[in-house]
Amino acid sequence: MSEVKMIGVVGGGQMGSGIAQVAAMHGVDVFLHDLDPQALSKASSSISSSIHRLVSKATLSQAAGADALKRLHFTTDLEDFHMADFIIEAIVESEDVKKSLFVKLDKIAKSSAILASNTSSISVTRIASSTTRSSQVIGMHFMNPPPVMKLIEIVRGADTSDETFAVTKALSERLGKIVITSKDYSGFIVNRILMPMINEAFFALYAGVATKEDIDTGMKLGTNHPMGPLELADFIGLDVCLSIMRVLHAGLGDNKYAPCPLLVQYVDAGRLGRKRGIGVYEYSKEPRSTKSSSRL
Ligand SMILES: NC(=O)c1ccc[n+]([C@@H]2O[C@H](COP(=O)([O-])OP(=O)(O)OC[C@H]3O[C@@H](n4cnc5c(N)ncnc54)[C@H](O)[C@@H]3O)[C@@H](O)[C@H]2O)c1
Repeated sequence: MSEVKMIGVVGGGQMGSGIAQVAAMHGVDVFLHDLDPQALSKASSSISSSIHRLVSKATLSQAAGADALKRLHFTTDLEDFHMADFIIEAIVESEDVKKSLFVKLDKIAKSSAILASNTSSISVTRIASSTTRSSQVIGMHFMNPPPVMKLIEIVRGADTSDETFAVTKALSERLGKIVITSKDYSGFIVNRILMPMINEAFFALYAGVATKEDIDTGMKLGTNHPMGPLELADFIGLDVCLSIMRVLHAGLGDNKYAPCPLLVQYVDAGRLGRKRGIGVYEYSKEPRSTKSSSRL
């Protein structure tokens, strides 16, 4: 495939909007699609305020900021992706929902297009099997927030071709990222290690070992993590953390990955973390000023 000129991003939440911003800032034309028009307008304003902030801090020139904004297009119509060279899916972490989206993308996208998933844990091989182009399906796992975090974890499905891998790696590097490569086993590299730690922090809280503040402070000052595991869970989204633990538990078949009942209960109660104003911590009344720099 020749150079990627146009990208389609599906899902305008925290990851999709960040991925669209990174691509536009690196000279790629981007269509960002979400089913929910409100999510799209939130994405549009958060991307433009982020770009304006970078320009005001002189991290980005005025011309580059204007160019990035010009490259971004927002759409509720997935058919607009028929011209895209490369499509990155960043919707809800559910295998069924992702598969039904990939069935549609397979029909809409041009035959040479690569379909990538930003999944945190779901089998790329199984997502690919819902399409007729499994050699052109790959995992492209950005870290949160995509404009800040340097890493992309590329996941090769069972049928991912060498060419698909090479194009995805070249695109990741063009976006200024450092690439690591994982085989397609549940959780890949980063979440296989990170999520059990977060889950264990919930077990420590559940068992009354310590307060949430002491668990987080212990891991920040004791192990030099920039964020404690519980505040990191709130930042990622407790629903996302729970989905990943369930994928690890089912996929790796070991009870050590069973989600902590307290994590399950918080999600059941709608305490999803920062995005809802409440998770392990409450943000609406007393916003925490944690400056995060290392997240999945
Ligand atoms: N949150 C993180 O820290 C993080 C990090 C890396 C990867 N991920 C992965 O990225 C993906 C997205 O996570 P997020 O945190 O951005 O979620 P989010 O809840 O912030 O956003 C998801 C968006 O997808 C939209 N959506 C849902 N179904 C759709 C569909 N069928 N078609 C179009 N749009 C649809 C929703 O309206 C929403 O705007 C997940 O697979 C997640 O595991 C998340």
